[in-house]
Amino acid sequence: MAIPTVKFNKNGKLKIMHITDTHLDHDNIDMSLFLINWACKKEMPDVAVITGDNVHNDDNAEVTKSYIDRLMRIFDDLSIPVAITYGNHDSEVGAMSRSELTDYYNTHSSSITYGDGPDSATYCVPVYSQNGDKVKFNLWIFDSNDYDEKGRYGCVLPHQVEWYKKKSDEITAANGGEKIYSMAFQHMIVADVYDALKKADKHRFYSFHHMYEKNDYYMFDPKVHNFGTLNETPCSGYYNYGQFEAMVEKGDVLAMFTGHDHTNAFGVKHKGIDIVNSLSTRYNGDRFSSQYGYRILEIEESDTSKYTSRNERWYNMFKKPDFAELKKSGDEFGMKTAKCVTSKGRIQKLYTRVGRKFVTLVTGRQVTYPH
Ligand SMILES: [Fe+2]
Repeated sequence: MAIPTVKFNKNGKLKIMHITDTHLDHDNIDMSLFLINWACKKEMPDVAVITGDNVHNDDNAEVTKSYIDRLMRIFDDLSIPVAITYGNHDSEVGAMSRSELTDYYNTHSSSITYGDGPDSATYCVPVYSQNGDKVKFNLWIFDSNDYDEKGRYGCVLPHQVEWYKKKSDEITAANGGEKIYSMAFQHMIVADVYDALKKADKHRFYSFHHMYEKNDYYMFDPKVHNFGTLNETPCSGYYNYGQFEAMVEKGDVLAMFTGHDHTNAFGVKHKGIDIVNSLSTRYNGDRFSSQYGYRILEIEESDTSKYTSRNERWYNMFKKPDFAELKKSGDEFGMKTAKCVTSKGRIQKLYTRVGRKFVTLVTGRQVTYPH
């Protein structure tokens, strides 16, 4: 099976969809995949990156595989190349190791989870120019692992950092000594994020304690920081083996995008690199679900030193559509009745059309998830 190539599109842009923390399970899979399918058709990105805690079901490899199939078929059908990595839960439950998971994701035609990285989910995806003759951008995909020896969150390990440094040097050398800009994607945020946030003098209602130093409080200062809101403690790994510092040293990474902290959607510029956390993409109807969604990043081939970013939250999908407007624009997809039945038989709908009227209805179980 030929591995799809990622290229700048005919408009000279690269559109990346960042999906994370789908936590697909028995209860949320129908609605989550319905929305992801919807979003993919609406956005038609040039590439998607899924950064871990993808499937979170019981210890049953057959069920895990069937959920992977359902997720990946969305991208297969739309011919959207998709890069996968893992979070702390992917191999913790589901009865499949990380390399077994990668082998299975790679049975799908849209998977680009291949590469010469140090493990099955750490690799570099080259992005080619529109005419395909030159690498113009890179996507670093890191497996930030699951837990350390004491059960605290994992991070990118020393041998992975070494691989990045070496590969980055090789890429620069192959490009005549000129660095090629890139973005990095992984599940866990880097511990360096705490150096980028503002330390609060004491606990305040808008501050959050450090993940491991519980008496230290941090806050997001919109006067200083780029964008977004901090809604929970950034749950970085306990250890820090210098991944971020290596990226600062090499100077080829514009921004890094993480998930894991489902409700955090912010970006902090630190030492020239944006540290950005994206919201969870799963939808199960709980009190956070409608605020979740996905992130779209766009880069122009003519100037790869910058990018734009936007969060799309699911509640934007729940607006009552203007039928006349949809008809005028010929949006057949938007005009279709949107209906989704969960495995428990509960009907969940974004909206449905009754005659010429749209009826909006969103229901769901109250379920909360760990990160
Ligand atoms: Fe996680």
